[in-house]
Amino acid sequence: MTKYVINGGNPLHGEIEISGAKNAAVAIIPAALMVDGVCRIENLPEISDVKTLLSILKEMGAKIRVVDKRTLDIDCTRVGTTHATFDMMRRIRASYYLIGSLLGRFGRADVAMPGGCNFGGVRPIDQHIKGFTAMGANVSVRNGIVTAVTGDTLRGVTIYLDVVSVGATINLMLGAALAQGRTVIENAAREPHIVDLANFLNSMGADIRGAGTNEIRVRGVKRMSGGFYSIIPDQIEAGTYMMAVAGAGGRVVIKDVIPKHLESISVKLREMGVTVVELEDSVIVQRDAPLLKTHVKTMPYPGFPTDMQPQISTVLCLAEGTSTITEGVWDNRFKYVDELVKMGAQIRVNGRSAIIEGVPYLSGAPIKASDLRAGAALVIAGLSARGRTVIDGVNYIERGYEKMISKLSDVGADIKGLSEREDQRYNRKMG
Ligand code: EPU
Repeated sequence: MTKYVINGGNPLHGEIEISGAKNAAVAIIPAALMVDGVCRIENLPEISDVKTLLSILKEMGAKIRVVDKRTLDIDCTRVGTTHATFDMMRRIRASYYLIGSLLGRFGRADVAMPGGCNFGGVRPIDQHIKGFTAMGANVSVRNGIVTAVTGDTLRGVTIYLDVVSVGATINLMLGAALAQGRTVIENAAREPHIVDLANFLNSMGADIRGAGTNEIRVRGVKRMSGGFYSIIPDQIEAGTYMMAVAGAGGRVVIKDVIPKHLESISVKLREMGVTVVELEDSVIVQRDAPLLKTHVKTMPYPGFPTDMQPQISTVLCLAEGTSTITEGVWDNRFKYVDELVKMGAQIRVNGRSAIIEGVPYLSGAPIKASDLRAGAALVIAGLSARGRTVIDGVNYIERGYEKMISKLSDVGADIKGLSEREDQRYNRKMG
């Protein structure tokens, strides 16, 4: 699809099933490279980032068998090369996990510097490099390519991360799984997908403890062998649909979730006057009263996730009073604000903060997604607005949300995707 067209104003009613977590899947697929034998991975989301990673593995010689829509057998036993096409690697951020998995398995990695979402600021990987260097690798970055080489295998050490980094925690855990000796990652990130990756590696024979706390201890093993694993539900996908109900109104059961992972989001929604009821593996979200202002600061887990910041800001545009948002993870993640302003939102950005004056309604407009979560936020804006919104740049959204159009249509949204040809026809019709 190239664009989404939304006629806003329909309240949402029904059920939405949540897919497997993108940010767990993009770590677990590279992890499969370190395993001898077949890894059966269930609950993989059907999104373009996953497809890109699978193509990279295939190019390296992995055997991939489709068991069903969401289940794959990945066998990397015969992978013999550490190379894949750099262009493909550049398409996604998570290609940097290949540094950890290739170094761990082969003692060498040549990986193109990560691409993926650009929120407007830099996305450094100095903490990854610092960790691998401490483990005995020689790491250089030249012409956008990271080359990491170790004499034999990585050596276990204690690494203190200067910033709480999800990516560095995951990458170093990957490298440490097959390293010689014991690695301790201090000041580690605690996101649910870090625990998921540790569970995956442990179920393949690794020895990792402490994932989910800020100190992860890994005892390197000689080899890991195949097994089964099912990926956790996507916390951010669930949170995005929870915000969609808050913005558009209605009542939706968000199914197949781990409510504990959604706590920081549920708490904010309740402060905003939205009802959230937690059941065993679902949450019910209902909004039938005016939205109330609140104040949000994004933080590493278990704080309010930065990946939900554009979505909650969008809903707060419609809340009575003045709300504030402080971005506590990234230097700059407010690129989408200009698009919301085109729809009538009143937002002022000042460095890492945004001040939102609630307005009674947003008006549909042609707008453009600049990254994955910004794109999701613009969909929420379109669903909540009066009139028609046309969103460009939806390839970002399709990197991380499985079947967003059908999931939203099923609960009553008026949303459709336009292919390139349909888009040209639509443009001619609109003059
Ligand atoms: N940072 C450094 N040095 C590093 C690594 C990170 O200074 O070596 C800084 C970053 O600049 C940032 C902070 O540390 O200020 C956190 O970055 P982190 O490494 O945690 O982010 P990431 O691993 O690159 C993942 C998710 C992002 C999510 C962040 C934070 C994946 C593939 N990406 O990125 O998700 O925003 O953690 O939770 O897991 C998304 O899904 O839309 C997305 C962007």
